[in-house]
This record gives sequence, structure tokens and C-alpha cells, in this order.
Amino acid sequence: MPGGRSAWMITRYEDADEALKDPRFIKNPRSVLPPEDLLENKVPDANVHRQISSHMLSSDPPDHTRLRSLVNKAFTPRMIEQWRERIQAITEDMLNAAEQKGQMELINDFAFPLPMTVISEILGIPEEDRLQFRQWSNDFVSSGGDEGQLQRVYGSMEAFARYLMKLIAWRSEKPEDDLVSRLVQAESEGDKLSEVELVGMIFLLLIAGHETTVNLIGNGVLALLQHPDQMEKLRQNPDLIKPAIEELLRYNGPLLTATGRWAREDVEFKGTLIRKGEMVMVALSAANRDGQTFQDADELDITRKENQHLAFGKGIHYCLGAPLERLEGQVAIAALLQRFPSLRLNTDPKSLTYRSGSLVHALDTLPVAF
Ligand code: HEM
Repeated sequence: MPGGRSAWMITRYEDADEALKDPRFIKNPRSVLPPEDLLENKVPDANVHRQISSHMLSSDPPDHTRLRSLVNKAFTPRMIEQWRERIQAITEDMLNAAEQKGQMELINDFAFPLPMTVISEILGIPEEDRLQFRQWSNDFVSSGGDEGQLQRVYGSMEAFARYLMKLIAWRSEKPEDDLVSRLVQAESEGDKLSEVELVGMIFLLLIAGHETTVNLIGNGVLALLQHPDQMEKLRQNPDLIKPAIEELLRYNGPLLTATGRWAREDVEFKGTLIRKGEMVMVALSAANRDGQTFQDADELDITRKENQHLAFGKGIHYCLGAPLERLEGQVAIAALLQRFPSLRLNTDPKSLTYRSGSLVHALDTLPVAF
């Protein structure tokens, strides 16, 4: 792992499912690691690191419960459904722009700007600031751990935290109808979120809100292009879009692994002793191709019935954004197939490359023509 640490990797579906629900595997390393082993004490500015990592995905109950309940309401399927028309409109605008050119680089022209625009509008991030996030967040999720990369990560972390504090100050002075303003008010009214937690929350929502969706669209479209029979079936039966998105999440999902967990105590897990403080990684993509759980696991079948995939995780950290994600994926891929009946890959498949790092499964580029 980055920094030279070793970790256990859990790959079978049943084990992954259990590990994600097991309260003995915790998210906050401060509860188990000695201070000298904490990443925050190895970076130039421990405060910045603490701010950016004080969010629900690195917390355990009761903090996790409190943090998650503050934003839960904004992401229920009913609330998210209200964004459908807007997501549709953004999608159509982007496809109009691409249509005139006859080709596009699907990641940069569509799969990235769509979710970035949506989560930025939900949160209330001004348009002119959005592109900067791409570089920052790319640095966080792609870091392989060498010294040069780590320096870049720290620089981006600091810049991001400074920006978020400025945004919080603007919205406390002049609230608008957006989620950041509502979170700022929740802080001042009920003493529910500290400033550190506020920065961590917005940071997490922004990163989680687009780093994954871009890959659902990118990997999903690539899988369909490589399975023309499935793509044609979907084009002929648009009602299949819901099971198709679930299958694309399973077959070629956006995340290779869940985020890291730590053994709270010595844990006997499936006959293996995992010692207190050791790191555990759950390989979501491997579990989603487990032949003991999924019939013909390596086949893409958009009509698959039994599909309890782990692409959104499991247990208390189950993806908060799943309803938003499903909606964006359904709207984007359905619109793309309907608009461009001759959609095809515009490069040699062997030339496609992926971003480095063990967390996201992310194409660098995906040139298509139509
Ligand atoms: C295809 C897209 C997405 C995938 C595959 C995905 C996947 C995941 C997974 C696997 C987890 C659990 C991680 C773990 O247990 O270590 C997670 C958590 C989370 N996701 Fe997503 N996600 C997606 C999109 C989104 C979006 C659009 C949002 C926007 C709000 C979001 C917000 C979150 C948050 C806040 C958490 C932490 C929940 C908690 O700790 O309780 N995700 N996501």
C-alpha cells in the first residue's frame, strides 16, 4: 500500500460481504494505530489532513451516524428524483455539443463533466471553480505512493481545504439555496457540525460525487462497445436500462476496492488471524466476478436477475450517493445510445490505458465516433 504498509486483501464475494458488515473492521485509524503510524503525522500540515479526512467514510459510530444523518435526507431516492429533468438537460446539452463534431473523447467531453456539474449544482460550487477540482481530486485518488506523488497530494489537499474554508465563509455570510448553505446553517443552529467536519463533508461529497460516476459511464460504455449484442438489446429495449446499469456496475465497476479498514482488535476471520491495527482491503471488483455467487460471472448480461453486486459497498458505509448514481448512469447511457445509433470505439482497444492506484478503475481516455 502507499507508504509501504501491508494489507490483507479479501476477494471472495461471501467474505467481502461479511467483512464490509463486520464492526470489528473500523474506518478511523486513530482508534487503533500509534500516533507515529498515522498518515496525518507524516504530512507537512497535520491540521489540513485532519480536516480533509474528518468525514463519515473515515468515521465509526457514533460520529458516523451523526455525520451521515445530516446529509441523508438530501440523497434519498425521492429527493434525487427531483434532479432528473436537470440531469437530462445537462446530458442533452453535452450530447448536442458532441454531435456537431461526429466524435468525442468520452471521458473528458461527457463522463467527467456530467457528474461534476450535477454534484457542483447540488452543493452550490461556482462554475468557474469546478475545473480546478479535477486536478485536485485526480491527485487524491490516483496516488501510487511514491514521494513525488505524495508531495503533489499534500499540495492539492492544502489548496482544496483552503478553497473549501473560503466557500464556507461565503455561504455563512450569504446563504443560497444549496446543500453547502444548508450544512453551514445546520452547524450554526444546532452545533451539529464543526468547521473541520464541514470541510471534510463537502470534500467527501465532491470527490465521491464524481470520481466514481465518471467511471460508471466510461467503463459502462466500454463494456457495451465490447459486447455489441448487449448494446443493441438495450437500444431496442430502453426499459432494460435499470438492470443494465446494475450489470455494468457489477461487470466493470468504478471501484477496484473499498476504502481501507483496520482491525479494531485481534480478529479471527474465516480461519485467519488478523491482528489489531492491521489493514484490510475488500476487493469489490473481484467479489463481483465470483463464480460461486454469480452464474457466468465473466459474462455481461444486461437482463441478469440475481444481481446483489457490491459496487456500492455494504453495511453502514453503503454508498450514500447510490440513488443519484443510478439516476445519472441511467440517463447518461440511455441518452447516448439513443442519440448515436452508430456509436463505436475510435481507437485500437489495446491502446486504452487506466489511471494508476488501487482504488478507482478509471480509463484515462475513451475516444468514440458516431
Ligand atoms: C457509480 C458511482 C458510485 C460508486 C460505485 C460508489 C461506491 C461507493 C462505495 C463502494 C462506498 C463504500 C466505501 C467503503 O465502504 O469503503 C461508497 C461510499 C460513499 N459514497 Fe459512493 N459511489 C458512487 C457514487 C457516489 C455519489 C454520486 C456520491 C454523492 C454524494 C457518493 C457518496 C458517497 C458517500 C458520502 C459515501 C460514504 C458513506 C458512509 O461512509 O456512510 N457516492 N460509495
